[in-house]
Amino acid sequence: MVAGHPVLPKGTCVADHRRSAIRTAVVWDALLAALEVQAAKAGRPVEVVDLGGGTGGSAVRIAQLGHRVTVVDPSPDALASLERRAAEHGLRDRVRGVLGDAAGLLDVVAESSADLALCHGVLEVIDDPPQAIATLHTVLRPAAAFSVLATQRHAAVLARAMAGHLVDAQHLLVDPAGRWGAGDPVPRRFTEAEIVSMLESAGFRPQTVHGIRTFTDLVPGALVDVEPGAAESLLALERATAERPEFRAIATQLHVVAIRD
Ligand SMILES: C[S@@+](CC[C@H](N)C(=O)[O-])C[C@H]1O[C@@H](n2cnc3c(N)ncnc32)[C@H](O)[C@@H]1O
Repeated sequence: MVAGHPVLPKGTCVADHRRSAIRTAVVWDALLAALEVQAAKAGRPVEVVDLGGGTGGSAVRIAQLGHRVTVVDPSPDALASLERRAAEHGLRDRVRGVLGDAAGLLDVVAESSADLALCHGVLEVIDDPPQAIATLHTVLRPAAAFSVLATQRHAAVLARAMAGHLVDAQHLLVDPAGRWGAGDPVPRRFTEAEIVSMLESAGFRPQTVHGIRTFTDLVPGALVDVEPGAAESLLALERATAERPEFRAIATQLHVVAIRD
């Protein structure tokens, strides 16, 4: 098990869990640091808003640390799973699921009420990412933290080319939404410059930028599952390269922690 990772969710096999823990370790390193800073500043548990938080993978883990999380998501099914998960962990008093979406966030979350906002895997699927970022700025208190995780265009170019879809790879390079074609299931992908520009335009100051799943998505899963020590080595490699621009550029996702002005 990767150090510090929470209890295995029901129905998850150990190999899946290990791979998932490696994929998300760098995100959690930065997120836990941001939570510590916000908790120290506030002198109380952190108030978190998780926009598009889905079934609560992040929310439950944050609540296990003593913080309070409001998950806003348009999927009733996801919210039902979230509630079950929170109940299983005895966290119903610290995790709140609210039916809503990015466009209507201010109808369900008060202005200047949160110390930390999460927007993980959501900018890709919503209609108006800059508007969502501006709204999250409104629900955050001054000097609060914002954690953004988004799919990166460059990695998709590489993946598409390596799979032999060379025309798609070229399309991805220039498509305004970062899609490889009409059949692409991902509505939008971003470059680091696009993410940083959206954040700065909304009044956020990016503090850390990490590449996520730089090697995890390239290394065969079987190697990690069977080779002794491979999981630990892969994790060490992800951590060692996450901040380096030359590797960040080809990471599947980018994770940015920004501070609200
Ligand atoms: C890829 S999942 C990410 C879930 C979670 N944040 C995570 O990192 O595992 C995308 C989530 O965005 C939600 N979503 C879709 N459209 C949305 C919208 N307009 N506003 C907010 N959330 C939305 C979906 O219901 C889903 O839970």
